[in-house]
Amino acid sequence: MAEVFDRVRPDLDGVPETLLIPLWARAREQSHLDPIIVDPVAQQIIDALDYDFTRFTSQRVDAENFCIRSKVMDSLISDILRESGPRTVIEFGPGLDTRFNRLGHLAERWIEIDFPEVIALRKRFFHPDASRQMLSGSMLDQEWMDKLRGTTGAPPLFIAEGVFYFFSRPQIRDFLQRLKTEFPGSSIVFDAVSELYLKLSNLQHPLANSRLEFALSPEAADIPAWDPEMIIRDYIGFGDSPWYDGVMHRFAWWKRCAVRLLRPARHSFMVVHAESLN
Ligand SMILES: C[S@@+](CC[C@H](N)C(=O)[O-])C[C@H]1O[C@@H](n2cnc3c(N)ncnc32)[C@H](O)[C@@H]1O
Repeated sequence: MAEVFDRVRPDLDGVPETLLIPLWARAREQSHLDPIIVDPVAQQIIDALDYDFTRFTSQRVDAENFCIRSKVMDSLISDILRESGPRTVIEFGPGLDTRFNRLGHLAERWIEIDFPEVIALRKRFFHPDASRQMLSGSMLDQEWMDKLRGTTGAPPLFIAEGVFYFFSRPQIRDFLQRLKTEFPGSSIVFDAVSELYLKLSNLQHPLANSRLEFALSPEAADIPAWDPEMIIRDYIGFGDSPWYDGVMHRFAWWKRCAVRLLRPARHSFMVVHAESLN
């Protein structure tokens, strides 16, 4: 039976408010007979939130973009965890996602880090336990690194879905460097867009008070160029994963044509798995 949560007004502003977009997209997707991602809890959360989600419908936000992103990332993360065996997963900026519900059983421990107002909201819908922790703060804070360094056994797997966009390139470069130094041998799965797609995304971004800043070059080549001890283990461009096959017909015609006719178009959106060498 569907869970009914107490009603709450999400007092979010700026970057934290953006978490409502992928949440809305995943909830909306549940009305499809064959949803790209199965996430019934997203709709239950939306039903409990006192927020005008119709703004995303009226601004014609492409819900499928967010759903295929989650699906491709889930699939990659699940492959990585099955190959390595259970290990600690540290997810940055989970917002109100339900990834732990889908993949938590593959991890030894799952830790979610987001801003205090987001974690407070998150705790209304999800409950921490021995295998799942929620930490309030910025992923850039030294505090969580000091707390977790040396406690993870095998090097952790980091996840950042829809998060790096809000940082500058030097900020992400330095952050990846810190993760490598503090957690040698760790790896990270994240998504990014090209410079051109970043410009387009800012033109269409439905929340005016959170601009997107971060873009990467094709094949995420910047990462090993920043630090040769960071290697790209997996790179999934737009249309590359088999998960796109059943979904392509739902994308705008110009995106379908571009990705079929112009190879560089596949670099407009990427899911990257980068690993730091020990
Ligand atoms: C677009 S939302 C994505 C949410 C979630 N990953 C999803 O796909 O549904 C961006 C998330 O990143 C979080 N975030 C942004 N900057 C952060 C930081 N410095 N530390 C932790 N979380 C951050 C926001 O609060 C928000 O939850």
